Amino acid sequence: MMKASAQTHPNIALIKYWGRNPNFPSHLNIPTNDSISMTKETIHSDKSNIELLTHTTIEFSEHYEDDEGFLKTETDLIPFNEFQMKRIKKVVDPLRRLAQTVLKFKMVSENKFPTAAGLASSASAFAALTTATSKALKLDLSQKVLSTFARLGSGSAARSIHGGFVRWHKGDSHETSYAEQICACNEFDIAAVIAVIDRGEKAVSSDVGINYAHSSAFNPVRITESQKQAKKITKAILNDDFPTVGKIAEKSCLYMHSVMMTSEPPLFYWNPGTLSVIKSIINKRKNEETEFYFTVDAGPNVHCFCRMEDLDLAHTMLRDMGIPERNLVRVRQAEQGSKVVEQHLF
Ligand code: DP6
Repeated sequence: MMKASAQTHPNIALIKYWGRNPNFPSHLNIPTNDSISMTKETIHSDKSNIELLTHTTIEFSEHYEDDEGFLKTETDLIPFNEFQMKRIKKVVDPLRRLAQTVLKFKMVSENKFPTAAGLASSASAFAALTTATSKALKLDLSQKVLSTFARLGSGSAARSIHGGFVRWHKGDSHETSYAEQICACNEFDIAAVIAVIDRGEKAVSSDVGINYAHSSAFNPVRITESQKQAKKITKAILNDDFPTVGKIAEKSCLYMHSVMMTSEPPLFYWNPGTLSVIKSIINKRKNEETEFYFTVDAGPNVHCFCRMEDLDLAHTMLRDMGIPERNLVRVRQAEQGSKVVEQHLF
């Protein structure tokens, strides 16, 4: 049977990826700089039943006349549209070539978190797809090689192949642009509360917005600084130096948003709620010497990083700002990256 399933967690970048290297074909998603992330999972509480996890099943068979893919929701199986199928095939086609088969596939993918939660992540989706596809095609690929194929679907997916802290090396070819773990889970004490400011879909997806990075005059500076930041933050993670990690992560986030806001067209992913949370984190740090730091991806939601023992404090601060409990999600490092599972979705 050529059928397999995988489960994968999303990741949050501390050193951001925002731009493809123009010297390589854009479909390869070779980035302009190294990036560093934490693979994250939800800490369960009574107040939120959200689980940051994607589950995907894929089967190759002569019974399928066409490639087909579906998103599984609680009530429906929704077929992926043409654009989504094209992106899925960016990962499946090269693996199918490697396996020397022309068999068509059926795939079903399910996010274990509400689709309209502002938490959707293509990173977990494409990493799960890569792992399941490689297994179904009986390709015996290392995590490193899997990360290069996941990258073809979505850059940040390369990092979700691994658990703990992960570095995606920019590289200068398909083979050398891979992700590897730099620190296993719990070697560095960190957790986060995600403040979901807006549950809606973003107006401009990362996949599109990232193409505008080169039009910002600040982009070359961001690229050079990112390489330095990646080096410094790796050292700080390995030394369990939380304030240095937090400060560098904030800088990387602000550099990325500076590029976004000054690109053509300009991209404003923040809304007023985003800025309020950022200011509260900075004020709390200044006035009460709490070790809280922020990061924001291509959207309005804020991750408030803290030490594990300060999670309640961070949660209370965000709740007291008026953010409803159901929009506060506690996360920690996920030990495992993308893994093969026995449960199939069809
Ligand atoms: C802002 O190309 O991985 O999250 O595939 O659209 O999810 P999508 O995005 P991707 O770019 C993500 C960019 C980022 C920063 C990061 O994760 O490094």
